[in-house]
Amino acid sequence: MPRGRPWDCRSRLRSRSAVTLPTGRDEAAPTPAEAVSAKVASVQPVGGETAGQPVAIESFLAELVVFREAAAAALDGVADSAGLEQARIEFLGARSGRLKAIQKLLSGLALADRPAGGRHFNEAKGAVTALFAAVADRLAAGGAAGATAAAIDVTLPGEPVRLGHVHPITQTIRRVQEIMARLGFESVDGPEVEDQWHNFEALAIPAEHPARDPLDNFYLAVARGSDPLLLRSQTSTVQIRVMENRQPPLRIVSLGRVYRPDTADATHYPMFHQVEGLLIERGTTMAHLKSVLRQLASSFLGGDVHVRFRPSFFPFTEPSVEFDMEWGGRWIEMGGAGMVDPAVLAAVGYDPEDVSGFAFGLGVERIAARRYGVADIRDFYRNDVRFLRQF
Ligand code: FA5
Repeated sequence: MPRGRPWDCRSRLRSRSAVTLPTGRDEAAPTPAEAVSAKVASVQPVGGETAGQPVAIESFLAELVVFREAAAAALDGVADSAGLEQARIEFLGARSGRLKAIQKLLSGLALADRPAGGRHFNEAKGAVTALFAAVADRLAAGGAAGATAAAIDVTLPGEPVRLGHVHPITQTIRRVQEIMARLGFESVDGPEVEDQWHNFEALAIPAEHPARDPLDNFYLAVARGSDPLLLRSQTSTVQIRVMENRQPPLRIVSLGRVYRPDTADATHYPMFHQVEGLLIERGTTMAHLKSVLRQLASSFLGGDVHVRFRPSFFPFTEPSVEFDMEWGGRWIEMGGAGMVDPAVLAAVGYDPEDVSGFAFGLGVERIAARRYGVADIRDFYRNDVRFLRQF
């Protein structure tokens, strides 16, 4: 069916009465609607009838056929919504549309023919209305696809993909693990929910020790009889778990979360991370401890970092120290350390006469804050991407 020609028949039919049929004009090629008109002209021309004159049912039906085919041909060439609206006005327009003109003929039908004429009229009207709806849907779908296609400009540079990265505390943990691995320390993990033995007793912290006070620990409500569980308050628990299962010599490092009911401030958080180091070998001394800590500090902070010991007390080390590092002209407290107490070695089945060792523990948030120049460790946990994307 030729496209783009429906307007031929439209203008023809608009300029004449709807009841006028073509009379065989000398035109090059008939449009589909014209062809239909020509076909039905032989049925019974109704041209020239005036109001009040009878209309033959055959002529009326022929008008409906012409109307349907002309509408179909017109719609076939509609390319946009403006064209669709123009066609709607021509074919279905309430005032002077072609359907309206055919409707006027109904009253000219013989009384006996009117029911059949009305039925055919409604059928034609329904079919053409449905055609219009289908074309409207087609244009809407095509329009959306067209708009999307128009919106994509393949010559524009691509949008940068925002990549996430590892949290600064995790970066610090991995860095410390790397440094310690170079010194021969193997990374190990331990549980965060601990029992009394591993968190206290094996570390020589007896029942009456203030460190076991419920106000200083997160005991779990699901108490297990006389041996309640708690969130571990230090990573020294891992020393015990490893020594219980392995024989010396040992070099391990454990980095993980610990929990204390401390009020959050610039240097404290109720959940924080610790690095626990443990070395058990024959002939180990405090000098070995100091050189390992100095290596760790120099590699982590960069430059030649000095370490100093201050006497202190931990139930599971003897002697015990707090150790500070000098960095940027200032001494900074980093953690606790000492020689593993012979009572602890004996508790895990080692012979304190045969082996000795050292242990140390330090806060990951504190060393990360020092390294990155962060004044308040709470910033690590505020989850503000403007802060986190700096690392
Ligand atoms: C201990 O926890 C010992 N287990 C360390 C140790 C291990 C000693 C092995 C001897 C042998 P302390 O309670 O001081 O020690 O904690 C160690 C470090 O954790 C502190 O120096 C500090 O850097 C960090 N820390 C302690 N409490 C907090 C907190 N609430 N928030 C952030 N960091 C903390």
